[in-house]
Amino acid sequence: MEKLVVHGGASLSGSVNISGSKNAALPILAATLLTREKCVIRRVPDVSDTNYMLQILQNLGAEVERASGTVTVKAEKLNGAEAPYDLVRKMRASICVMGPLLARMKEANVSLPGGCVIGDRPVDLHLRGLEGLGAEVHVEGGNIVVKAGKGLRGDEIDMRGKHGTTVLGTDNVMMAAVLAKGTTVIEGAACEPEVIDLANFLNKMGARISGAGTSRIEIVGVKELGGVEHTVIPDRIEAGTFLVAGAMAAKDKITLKRVEPDHLTSLLDVLEECGYPVERHGKTLTIGKAKNPLGANLTTEPYPYFPTDMQAQMCALFATTPGISVVKDTIFPQRFMHCSEMKRMGADIDMDDGTAVIRGVEKLSAAPVMASDLRASAALVLAALTAKGNTEIHRVYHIDRGYENIDDKLIGLGAEIERLQE
Ligand code: EPZ
Repeated sequence: MEKLVVHGGASLSGSVNISGSKNAALPILAATLLTREKCVIRRVPDVSDTNYMLQILQNLGAEVERASGTVTVKAEKLNGAEAPYDLVRKMRASICVMGPLLARMKEANVSLPGGCVIGDRPVDLHLRGLEGLGAEVHVEGGNIVVKAGKGLRGDEIDMRGKHGTTVLGTDNVMMAAVLAKGTTVIEGAACEPEVIDLANFLNKMGARISGAGTSRIEIVGVKELGGVEHTVIPDRIEAGTFLVAGAMAAKDKITLKRVEPDHLTSLLDVLEECGYPVERHGKTLTIGKAKNPLGANLTTEPYPYFPTDMQAQMCALFATTPGISVVKDTIFPQRFMHCSEMKRMGADIDMDDGTAVIRGVEKLSAAPVMASDLRASAALVLAALTAKGNTEIHRVYHIDRGYENIDDKLIGLGAEIERLQE
């Protein structure tokens, strides 16, 4: 296993290229199962999550090639419809092969993904949606078995749950519906940019999807889909993470290239309200030091509101911002592992049932800390950039799941970071 040693006192400058979106790439890679023809997908980030997905596709019989950021998949012949536990347990998002497998093979056998450190990760909405298309669903021995011997048929599907919309649930139902007989309407669909990117990919394949990006998506079923070429959208969460790095540690300002600022408006609004000068020029964003940084009260909600995947990074920023900030996560109320680790570094944070009350301190101090979920781990790297001393962050594999060379990119901005064997 590896650890990162992050030297405090970073003073960042220059520019960084943002990678393609992990959360757009994963369902798009799953969607290649819907055609026998070759699909070429560009800007697929080389992170362990996308590599796990490629293993699952290969395990199903697809031919897969990766040449730096470009992935080629040809699922001409599939040797089964099973996503095994040993792969699914490593990456919960593997659940999004269920919809395409059901559409292509009329059955799917996917291990129940189980929970993870950010909390329970139920799939009831996925299953309700697929049942709505005529699938028979049952769970046996920790596996979800879905069957549609006579094929799927379009219907009105309500995907709303007690925590609001589901991103991968919307993806699964959309991918199942594209080959169903008749028209499907998804009410309460997730509106994330990654859902729009998947819909665009499917439409290029010959699907007939309208309304992606709104809470009502209509899918007119077609007979078959063809191979395509597609470039994945930029990763808005990686971009947000680097914006917070700039807010915390820019000497003057830093520049992010190859981003989509329209996908970041809720974060940009908050950073500007907190006093950080943000400028956008086309696909480039710059962020500078705040003359008088302010804290904020934040609540995470489904897109287009403040994203849960940026909650941990904002806690790192607020830990050394004067005043009191309150951060509430309504989507994953347990997603605060980063706070207990930052308290080891001297952060003043009180936790109360899905809400962190953060009192800014002058400076954090280095301490050995443990990475846990992907975004909590990134938050610890951010906290370490401006801490006193050198912080050791253990279990770096958590960060490598969703950030492509985060240490090299930060070093390129002037940070001092070593990646060492534990
Ligand atoms: C996607 O996960 C993202 N992952 C997550 O990013 C992100 O945090 C999440 O959406 C919310 O934005 C990928 O896209 C690969 P959900 P997903 O279904 O789709 C509840 C990261 O850091 N729910 O939108 O699995 C659920 O418990 C990852 O990159 C049900 O109740 O999340 C949660 O409270 C972490 N029943 C809420 O909905 C269901 O059947 C939103 O979850 C499904 C979800």
